[in-house]
Amino acid sequence: MKIGITGTTGQLGRLVVESLKGKISSGNIVALVRTPQKAADLGVETREFDYSKPTVEALSGIEKLLLISSNEIGQRATQHSNVIEVAKKAGIKWIVYTSLLRADTSTLSLAGEHLETEKALKASGIPYTILRNGWYSENYSGSIGGALAGGAFIGSAGNGKISSAARADFAEAAAVVISSDGHQGKTYELAGDTAYTLTDLAEEISKQAGKTIPYKNLPENDYASALKSFGVPEGFAFAIAGWDVSASKGDLFDESHQLSKLIGRPTTPLAQTVKNALALVK
Ligand SMILES: NC(=O)c1ccc[n+]([C@@H]2O[C@H](COP(=O)([O-])OP(=O)(O)OC[C@H]3O[C@@H](n4cnc5c(N)ncnc54)[C@H](OP(=O)(O)O)[C@@H]3O)[C@@H](O)[C@H]2O)c1
Repeated sequence: MKIGITGTTGQLGRLVVESLKGKISSGNIVALVRTPQKAADLGVETREFDYSKPTVEALSGIEKLLLISSNEIGQRATQHSNVIEVAKKAGIKWIVYTSLLRADTSTLSLAGEHLETEKALKASGIPYTILRNGWYSENYSGSIGGALAGGAFIGSAGNGKISSAARADFAEAAAVVISSDGHQGKTYELAGDTAYTLTDLAEEISKQAGKTIPYKNLPENDYASALKSFGVPEGFAFAIAGWDVSASKGDLFDESHQLSKLIGRPTTPLAQTVKNALALVK
């Protein structure tokens, strides 16, 4: 019974394959990727598969499909529905899709494409499971060096509580779900066990770095302008600032503990992700 996984050249997909290799035979894992050479080190079968032009042939012999959402924001709803259509033609028996935490009510600008995909999946008639992934803790890792250099961690999330978890936690959940029974028709809201504000995050960075780095909350436009001044393209800078505003409204908060229940252990503490990030900065 072969399992196909998209996005395995990405950071989440690689971790899913590693986790899945500990649960099922590597011979039953197929990495569906745009550039097979990039996935050659995964130690599993690779097949060419582009969300923009997926083929039925690439899914031959595959029963279960883990559709990891594309990172091409703006094209994702179309890309994902291409994949669902082809999966239907190929007779795929179950699709697990990585969506976004509370995609149906979230104010995050990312939510629309995920919700459209969820609807397409449900309309397809293919049995499905939706993994509504919350924020990756690593989303903040790249800002830590700048915060240390600039003397403050900046953002627009106010006192919004963020229940992030490590990519490895979400990857393990995906591997658990796709390799076990009892998940069809379910939608899981997945997030970290412990919530924090960006003030808490700045305190953790300060503690571990041995240097006081306060959190500085900025109006959305000022934060976007600051990101632009660091070289972030304008559209993306405004998107990031907007996501922080959504975080300030509680859109990244969750206390259902469904992620730790699925993986059978607590989610990775924020302190560990900060430690990993600092090791790369120093
Ligand atoms: N929850 C969160 O905090 C969060 C944060 C960031 C992203 N995400 C979402 O979660 C997904 C996985 O996260 P990640 O960190 O692993 O992202 P990532 O490292 O950027 O990986 C994205 C993957 O999508 C693949 N991809 C993009 N366009 C494709 C196409 N047209 N056809 C086939 N494959 C395509 C990429 O393939 P190539 O190697 O060929 O480019 C790559 O394997 C992201 O794509 C995004 O939807 C969630």
